[in-house]
Amino acid sequence: MDALRQKERTPQDLGPRASLLVDKHVQYIVDFALSEGSLEHILTEHFKMSGIYWSLAALYLLGALDRLDRDKIIDWVLSCQHACGGFGASERHDPHLLYTLSAVQILALYDRLDALDAGRVAAYVAGLQREDGAFAGDGWGEVDTRFSYCAISCCSLLGRLDAIDVPKAVEFVLRCGNFDGGFGATPGNESHSGQMFTAVGVLKIAGAEDRLDADLTCWWLSERQTPSGGLNGRPEKLQDVCYSWWCLSCLHMLGRGHWIDEDALSRFILHCQDEERGGISDRPDDMVDVFHTFFGVAGLSLMGHPGLKEIDPVYALPVDVVERVRRWNASQTGA
Ligand code: FPP
Ligand code: ZN
Repeated sequence: MDALRQKERTPQDLGPRASLLVDKHVQYIVDFALSEGSLEHILTEHFKMSGIYWSLAALYLLGALDRLDRDKIIDWVLSCQHACGGFGASERHDPHLLYTLSAVQILALYDRLDALDAGRVAAYVAGLQREDGAFAGDGWGEVDTRFSYCAISCCSLLGRLDAIDVPKAVEFVLRCGNFDGGFGATPGNESHSGQMFTAVGVLKIAGAEDRLDADLTCWWLSERQTPSGGLNGRPEKLQDVCYSWWCLSCLHMLGRGHWIDEDALSRFILHCQDEERGGISDRPDDMVDVFHTFFGVAGLSLMGHPGLKEIDPVYALPVDVVERVRRWNASQTGA
């Protein structure tokens, strides 16, 4: 309880952390990306594809996408694709929906979706949909609304929503909804902010957001703000920068960003910056990582922080990237 109180105290004076340390964050991400062979790299190999998506999306928002080698990254991404169409987290890793979406997002950020056979990727995704509309993450069969989101986001970005049964996917996600307005990973599971992003995201992409009680859902989301200004993932849990994204994106998707105190949340995220090394951590003065750096920057972007490109709350990609993808898809179908 003492730790909880201590973490919830927000200093009035953030010192150098009062502003977003753009150059430091860019340098932190670039140093991380170029430190191949480092312990941090070896420890994150099993989710490398997503790590690269978080890094590049953060660099894009910070106006520094050109700081990494585009061609080398695109070649590496394509080297992780399997004959089935899915992507692994790294070379020689089995394909999974999580990393297939990250690969598509990276290619979208670099405007290289044309490097993919969209039909083959969509067929891989479609092959993971079950009779009840849910998606397994891979051939091993684990089901979770995270995989529903990955599937629908991936097919939508590729202009291949027709490859999957969208109405059934929506029915499964709705079955994961709880009496409190929240959503869990599977039917009957506890409401969790991460799962809220995936559930509301699926409903938004499917154009079915009117199927949820937005006031109740946004009440649950706004209750996630703690006295620190930060947001937590579930009642009685500690605030964490990544929930700035998981919760705030949903509030923005449902037009209720103002249901939380955005100034207090901005201060909390800024407080989590490492003013020496750059990067953002989960809570003030913890160790920084690229995951929390991206979601911190993304949260600030959603709140219109000056100097950041605008992010799309549904696709977790910059707004101009999503617009370019839409134009590209329209040109493919001649629409
Ligand atoms: C909680 O993470 C977060 C989730 C359960 C949502 C994850 C969503 C995806 C993987 C979909 C793709 C995401 C994007 C942004 C495109 P956690 O395991 O850290 O939760 P914890 O705080 O309870 O440990
Ligand atoms: Zn976190």
